[in-house]
Amino acid sequence: MESDIERAGRLMLASKHVVGLTGAGVSVESNIRPFRGPGGLWTEYGEPPMDGYQRFLANPKEDWEQRLSRGGYRRELYEALEVAKPNPAHYALAELEELGVLKYLITQNVDNLHRAAGSKEVAEIHGNFSKLRCIQCGSRYEREEISLEALPPHCPRCNGVIKSDGVMFGEPIPSDILRICEEETSKSDCMLLVGTSAFVYPAAGFPQEVKRRGGALIEVDPYETGITPFCDVSIRGKAGEMLPRIVDYIKVKPQRGESST
Ligand code: OAD
Repeated sequence: MESDIERAGRLMLASKHVVGLTGAGVSVESNIRPFRGPGGLWTEYGEPPMDGYQRFLANPKEDWEQRLSRGGYRRELYEALEVAKPNPAHYALAELEELGVLKYLITQNVDNLHRAAGSKEVAEIHGNFSKLRCIQCGSRYEREEISLEALPPHCPRCNGVIKSDGVMFGEPIPSDILRICEEETSKSDCMLLVGTSAFVYPAAGFPQEVKRRGGALIEVDPYETGITPFCDVSIRGKAGEMLPRIVDYIKVKPQRGESST
């Protein structure tokens, strides 16, 4: 009988535009905790206020000071982000792109690990931990480019207030990134969901949109999620163990003389 790995690999080979959607779970094996579920940051500390961006706008100096003092969950999260290295799941996704099977990757993670592993076509829908962004003109900067001596920092181009590139609760997704995500989703006939509870919008809406247009959904997650009932294949296991197995299947399939469609 065909295994879930084989079904996933076959579906991906038969699809024209496979898009990946990753969440915190893909980086758990890089020692970054997820937000929800067992071991989740929000499970332990509680979910932060939903109006984080509005609070930032009301008092950017205070928000920057809190950020730099790393209170609560932030200390642990930032320390994990600073030393994290890609794990086999990140490398497998980069290899799927290299093989021409994965056309695009949307990640909700800010950890930069997909790019570190070699993925090129990546949209970071919740931003990038290592970058800063001007809220007025949208320019992005590496952290080292902007002095934090006077808070809040201001944009060298337009003098707007600068915040971390990471998207806060209550903050609109930057329009350039959202447009790419929507375009890729509209082209996708198969979405590979890895390590996401599919709980936070707009990302949670992308697989629903693929399904609505008759596309396939493949999920890799050790636990059942809200999107499980809509998935064509649910692979129960850790991303770092399961994704390399999908890659192996895809790499040997043409050698067996089987058609890729
Ligand atoms: P969640 O923490 O909500 O979900 C993580 C998922 O990963 C869960 O379904 C886990 O079962 C799964 N998981 C755990 N270990 C895994 C492993 N080794 N391999 C594969 N999966 C594993 O994370 P996200 O869905 O990414 O937003 O959460 C979305 C957003 O909520 C985040 O981007 C963040 C958060 O609030 C912002 O900060 C704006």
